[in-house]
Amino acid sequence: MSKIIPEIPSGSIFGHLKAYVGDPLTFLQKYRDQYGDIFTFRVVNRRLIFINHPDFIERVLQENHRNYIKSEAYRKLALLLGDGLFTSNGDYWLSQRRTIQPAFHRDQIKTYAQVMHDLSMSMVNAWKKRSEIELASEMTNVTLKIISKTMLDVELGKEGQTVEQYLPYALKYMVNRITSPLATPLWIPTKNNQKFKAAIKILDELIHEIIRFKKENLNIDLISQLILLINEKTGKGMNDRQLRDEVMTLFLAGHETTAMAMTWILNYILRDEEIRKKLLREINRIRNSWSAIKNYFIQNVINEALRLFAPVWILSREALGKDRLGAFDIQKGDRIIFSPYMVHRHPAYWDFPEEFIPERFDKDLPHRFAYFPFGGGPRVCIGQHFALMEMTILLVNILKNFPEMKLTTQKSIGYDYSITLRPDRKIFVQPRAVQ
Ligand code: HEM
Repeated sequence: MSKIIPEIPSGSIFGHLKAYVGDPLTFLQKYRDQYGDIFTFRVVNRRLIFINHPDFIERVLQENHRNYIKSEAYRKLALLLGDGLFTSNGDYWLSQRRTIQPAFHRDQIKTYAQVMHDLSMSMVNAWKKRSEIELASEMTNVTLKIISKTMLDVELGKEGQTVEQYLPYALKYMVNRITSPLATPLWIPTKNNQKFKAAIKILDELIHEIIRFKKENLNIDLISQLILLINEKTGKGMNDRQLRDEVMTLFLAGHETTAMAMTWILNYILRDEEIRKKLLREINRIRNSWSAIKNYFIQNVINEALRLFAPVWILSREALGKDRLGAFDIQKGDRIIFSPYMVHRHPAYWDFPEEFIPERFDKDLPHRFAYFPFGGGPRVCIGQHFALMEMTILLVNILKNFPEMKLTTQKSIGYDYSITLRPDRKIFVQPRAVQ
């Protein structure tokens, strides 16, 4: 016997637009408490099904993943990312994934450790001359430099500022489009639409410039590999548009997520003396920053931070055909959303879910899909090992050089819901203790 998915009633023609778009996690938490691990609600004319049970998520991401494609929200992201790995579907996605995968193999990632170390040390050295820094922008800057150097083998100087200036704007614009069904179509020349198009044009020009340069200066980096690649079926290499889409995807997926993860990790550690002390003891024991990838406590701290502040806080899929999640029927075309942030705090799976307890990762996970900061199944994050290594190296170098680092922003930090979970205010830090 199938059960009916509980529906949250709404008297408004806009459905739950205001509450959901205004503060999605509070909205989802409130109704999860009332309705349990599956419910549906309407946002204007869109019906969304929220699932929060690890079994359901396992079914969607892993067991029956062929039945679920990336939903409309990702298609809107395609305005910026085109048909790159993050947004594409089907056979095209699979062949691109197979192509790009070797560049993210563990052994390949190890070769990036030195670059990660050097670039994090340049940042740390620059901090030695500064009395105060702002966490999110510093982390964005360094992760952008790392992804540019490792993937594209270019050092972004002035161009980095261009990306830093226009990418967040383009992102914010797209998030507004994803969350608001009332957004004006792109062809209407509103001020925001024009600003977005101008930002895309500038970013495109920069990426095409890098591609042109790389075509004449092939090397061992990822972009050179992509340029050299020949599709078995067509016998042709990727065209400039395809290259641009993969580069833009790696630029975005490869830095914004890690930058926000690092921002949350530091924001937490600098408020918890016990954790900081224990981390420092571990850090003082290790020989070089990348060997910390084998240190359990440091890894546990990173895992626990990703549990509580999953940078990719919401995922979604669209059903291609019928399916069943537990006792609930899913129909073709259904839109499903689920949140690592919420499942990571599920009281049935986590003891003291709101508390920061790194040691909980010494034990096996309570369920394979109770913890999925990097997604799961065939579409799991391709950059997972890259990101873990990068965060480890950054964390070690920052704390080693600034063991007494201090937050100057004391207020507690709320969320700004972008594609990633961002802090809702700037977080300022004094790297050195003031004498
Ligand atoms: C802490 C850092 C990171 C987090 C939390 C994260 C999280 C995620 C998640 C949750 C997904 C799955 C999205 C979905 O199924 O809808 C994903 C996919 C992806 N990530 Fe990451 N990511 C991180 C770092 C990176 C890095 C460093 C790179 C590249 C260097 C990267 C590249 C990608 C790409 C290309 C995809 C799409 C994979 C596919 O569909 O085949 N990510 N990431």
